[in-house]
Amino acid sequence: MQTEALSDAAQLTVRPLHEHFAAEVTGFDMRKPQPPEIQKALRDLFARYSVLVFRDQRVTDEEQVAFTRIFGDLEGTTFSVAHSHPYVYQLSNIDENGEVLKPDTTKRLFLEVNARWHTDSSYRPIPAKGSLLSGREVPEGEGETAFCSMRVGWQTLPDEMRRRVEGLKAVHNYAYSISLFDPDGAGVTQDELATVPPVVHPMVRTHPDTGEKNLYVSGHIERVVGLPEAEGRALAEELIEWCARPGYVYEHHWRPFDAVLWDNRCALHRATAIPLTQRRIMHRTTIAGEGPVT
Ligand code: SIN
Repeated sequence: MQTEALSDAAQLTVRPLHEHFAAEVTGFDMRKPQPPEIQKALRDLFARYSVLVFRDQRVTDEEQVAFTRIFGDLEGTTFSVAHSHPYVYQLSNIDENGEVLKPDTTKRLFLEVNARWHTDSSYRPIPAKGSLLSGREVPEGEGETAFCSMRVGWQTLPDEMRRRVEGLKAVHNYAYSISLFDPDGAGVTQDELATVPPVVHPMVRTHPDTGEKNLYVSGHIERVVGLPEAEGRALAEELIEWCARPGYVYEHHWRPFDAVLWDNRCALHRATAIPLTQRRIMHRTTIAGEGPVT
């Protein structure tokens, strides 16, 4: 795959990382305000590639927040178990004594929900547009983040399956996905859960920037409207597995201070594992969605 220099923002170079989506973008410093032509080029690349990798961006939380705003307003944090800033989740496997979290601890269970394929905030009435994850301390050889494309998933879906899925709606419920890991709630309070009641979204949506259709499925799906519970969940799992089938996944191998930006409207992601011995500290900002998309 060839590296491309962009004519409207010549200092940026783009190297595709996968045949269908994902690219590495170099040639700018995330800590600084970006001129309008770079902002526009980054927004265009975000729409085109769905997943953008930026290397060696040693940002503070404030710099990360400022950079993320290029792509839209930010979603505030809801779950206090990982809150480090009003707009930054600290997804860290370190406890209050500086030790790596032990198995079955509340905070680890909260992180492990992210090991299921999902799209961020699909359990909100207006799901997140995008997310930016900054690797502040990253392990070696584990704790990667994997991505796949729901756009490619839809484009390659057999016609018979397309006919079955188009028009269906799914119920996304955070209480459901966290209950799979810890029936007692994993540090998420009942008050916090009450702010994210179950919501219904179409299983096929149109991307507002590209006009292309994509599947919209997530590990937060509890059931499919009009189908028996087990059948609906099996369908959602089948579609997720389809999007993430061999050859269609980009797995990001973290280097310190990598930052990865993804489009939650058409990409799925998951943490491959939360390490049991190595430190892993990731800071995530989330771009708020702009409205329901059918
Ligand atoms: C997330 O799911 O937002 C974070 C994924 C990761 O920690 O790799």
